Amino acid sequence: MAASSAPLLLLLCLAVVSPAAARTEDLLAAARAPEAAAWLRGVRRRIHQRPELAFQEHRTSELVRRELDAIGVPYAWPVARTGVVATIGSGAGPVVALRADMDALPVQELVDWEYKSLEDGKMHACGHDAHTAMLLGAAKLLQSRKEDLKGTVKLVFQPAEEGSGGAYYVLEEGVLDDASAIFGLHVDPALPVGVVSSRPGPFAATSGRFLATVTGKGGHAAGPHDAIDPIVAASSAVLSIQQIVSREIDPLQGAVVSITFVKGGDAYNVIPESVAFGGTLRSMTDEGLSYLMKRIREIVQGQAAVHRCSASVDFMEETMRPYPAVVNAEGMYAHAKEVAGRLLGEENVRVAPQLMGAEDFGFYAQRMAGAFFTIGVGNESTMEQLRTTHSPYFVIDEDALPVGAAFHAAVAIEYMEKHASA
Ligand code: NI
Repeated sequence: MAASSAPLLLLLCLAVVSPAAARTEDLLAAARAPEAAAWLRGVRRRIHQRPELAFQEHRTSELVRRELDAIGVPYAWPVARTGVVATIGSGAGPVVALRADMDALPVQELVDWEYKSLEDGKMHACGHDAHTAMLLGAAKLLQSRKEDLKGTVKLVFQPAEEGSGGAYYVLEEGVLDDASAIFGLHVDPALPVGVVSSRPGPFAATSGRFLATVTGKGGHAAGPHDAIDPIVAASSAVLSIQQIVSREIDPLQGAVVSITFVKGGDAYNVIPESVAFGGTLRSMTDEGLSYLMKRIREIVQGQAAVHRCSASVDFMEETMRPYPAVVNAEGMYAHAKEVAGRLLGEENVRVAPQLMGAEDFGFYAQRMAGAFFTIGVGNESTMEQLRTTHSPYFVIDEDALPVGAAFHAAVAIEYMEKHASA
C-alpha cells in the first residue's frame, strides 16, 4: 500500500504545480545558485567601486557591454550617450522592455567596507549599481532560455536617472518604439530581501524644480530708501509660496513645494542687487504640477511687484525636464504582482504607499503600459540602522540581487507567453 501510494501522491503534487510556477521557481533557483549569486555580487561590487554621475557612465556602460558580449547578447550602443539596449529573443513581437538605471550620486560614501567607492565625492547611494547587476542577471537567465522565448525582450541600461531624465533621451532615440510594455525595479532599504511592493495607478510623483530671481536696486544698507531691497521681496515670496499647498490644494491630493536654497548678498552693510531662490515641486498628477508652476510664477512676480522689484522664474524645462508621475498600468501591475506572488510567495508582495519621490520611469510609463516595483534590500541589521537611499551610509543586502534578476526575467517571460500572437 505504502509503495503504491507514493507515485500517486507525487503525481497529485505535480498536477497542482502549473508550468508557469515551475519555470518561475527554476529562475529563482538558477539566479541563487552559488556561482550565479557570486557573479552578481562581483558585478555589483565592481560598479559600486567606480560610481559615475549622470551621462558620465562610460566605465559602467563598458562593463555592461563586456558582460553582454561574454554571454553572447547583442545590443545597441550608445543610446542617449552612455546607455545600452540589449535584445534577447525571437526578434518578433510581443516586445517587452526591462529597465535599469546606471548613474550614481554626488555623495561621499561613509560606509567602511571592502568595496567602498574609490571615487571621491561619488557613491551609488540609490542602489543603481544593484539595478544594473540585477538586469545583467536577468540577461543571463533569459539568454540561457532564448530558444523558448515567445517574443523579444529589450534590456535597457539607462543613463542619468538622477535629475537629468535619461529615460526621456532613451525614448527619443526610438529604440523602444516597438515595445508594448516595460517593467522596472528600484531597491527599497526599508523592505526585507524577498519582498517586493507596488501599487496600481499613480505610484511616484511628478516633479519639477524652479529658480526664481528677484531683482531690486543695490545700495548702502544705511540708506534703504535709496535702494530697492530684493531680500524683503524674496522673503515675502518664500512665505506666500507656503500657502499654495496649505490653502489651494485639496488636502486629499498630494503636493509639495520645498524651497531649498536662498542666495542673496554677501556683506553686512550692502543691500544686494538681486536674490535667487529655488527648490522642488511635486504632485501626483501632471495637472497638479502645472498648477504649482503657474502659481509659483504668479506669486514670485506678484510679491516682487508689491516690493517694487522685478522677478523671473525659470522651471528649466529644457535642460532639466520635469519628471512625469509614475503611473502603473493596471494590467501590468496585476501581471507583475501575480508573477512576484509565484516567485516569492503572495505574502511577500505588498501594496506600496504613494511616493513623493520622483522617478524618470514615468517617461516610459507615459509611452507604453508599464509597472514599477520596489524590491527589498534590507535585513534585520540594516533595517535597524534606517539607512535610506541617498544617505552616505546606504547599504544593501546583496541576497536581493538574485531575487531582482529572477523577478525581471520571470515578468518578461510570462508577459511574452500571455501576449504571444496565437
Ligand atoms: Ni534611484
